[in-house]
Amino acid sequence: MFSIFKKKEKLVENKIIEYKEDYNDIEPISKYFHNETGITFDKQVSILKSKVKSFCKQRYIHSFSNLLESIKENNSLKQELIDYLTTNETYFYRELKQIMELAELVNNSSGKINILCAPSATGEEPYSIAIALLEVGVSSSRFNIVGIDINSDAILKAKKAIYGERNIRNLSAEIISKYFTQTNNEYALNQSVKSLVSFKIANLFDSSFSSLGKFDFVFSRNMLIYFDKETKLKAKSILESMRKNNNHKVFFGHADFF
Ligand SMILES: C[S@@+](CC[C@H](N)C(=O)[O-])C[C@H]1O[C@@H](n2cnc3c(N)ncnc32)[C@H](O)[C@@H]1O
Repeated sequence: MFSIFKKKEKLVENKIIEYKEDYNDIEPISKYFHNETGITFDKQVSILKSKVKSFCKQRYIHSFSNLLESIKENNSLKQELIDYLTTNETYFYRELKQIMELAELVNNSSGKINILCAPSATGEEPYSIAIALLEVGVSSSRFNIVGIDINSDAILKAKKAIYGERNIRNLSAEIISKYFTQTNNEYALNQSVKSLVSFKIANLFDSSFSSLGKFDFVFSRNMLIYFDKETKLKAKSILESMRKNNNHKVFFGHADFF
C-alpha cells in the first residue's frame, strides 16, 4: 500500500494533521470479533494484539478504536479483518474414517442426497467427500455438496481448486492421477469433481444462515475449536437445525468439544 504522508500524519479536509498511534486496548476489538464470528482469542490476547496491530499499520489505521469505528461502517474492511484473523488449515482426506462413514451412509440410502460442509475452508473437505462418494460407487447425479466459510479468500481458493503437495499428502497416487491434473507442483482438481460442490461465503451466526436450506447430512469439523464453551453449544444447535432428519448425527471434529 502506498501513502504520500509521513507516518503519524494524515489529510483531513485538505489539512495535514498529526495523530497519535494507540494500539493498547485490544479488548473492544476482541469482543466485537467474538460477537460477529464466534471466535475467541481469550487465551491468545497478545497474538491477537500483534496481528491486529500489523493489520492496522498496513492500512494506515492509527488506533484500535479507529479500526473498530471503520469496520462497523465498512463491510469490506470487516471482511478483510475476518480473512486476516481466521485459520483455514485443512487437507484432503483429513480424519478419513468419518468421511468413509458418511460415504457408506449415502451409499446405503436412496434418492438425491445433499450435504452441507460448514466450514469448508479452501475446499479440501467437501471435495474429499465428493471423491469418497464416487470411490464407493455413488453416482455423481445422486448428490450435491454445499461448502460454506466465513473467509472470502478461502472460498475463492476453494472455487479455483488448485492445490499444493501439502494439501494432497494423504491421497494415494491412484486417486491423484484419477481426479487431478498435475502441472509442476500444482494439482488442479478435475471439473468432474469441482462441479459437485458449490461454495458460498457465509457466517454460521448470521440470521441468513438458515436460508441455505435443509440437508441430509451436515459436516462441521475443526471450527468449534476456535469457540468458547457457550458459543460451541450455540453453533451445535444451529448446525443440528440444518438437518432434514433429526436422527442423522452432525459430523463434528474429534477435538471440537474439548
Ligand atoms: C481449521 S478450518 C477447518 C476446515 C475443515 N472443516 C477441516 O476440518 O479441515 C476452520 C474454518 O472455520 C471457519 N470459520 C470460523 N468461524 C466461522 C463462522 N462463524 N462461520 C463460518 N465459518 C467459520 C474459518 O474461516 C476456517 O476456514
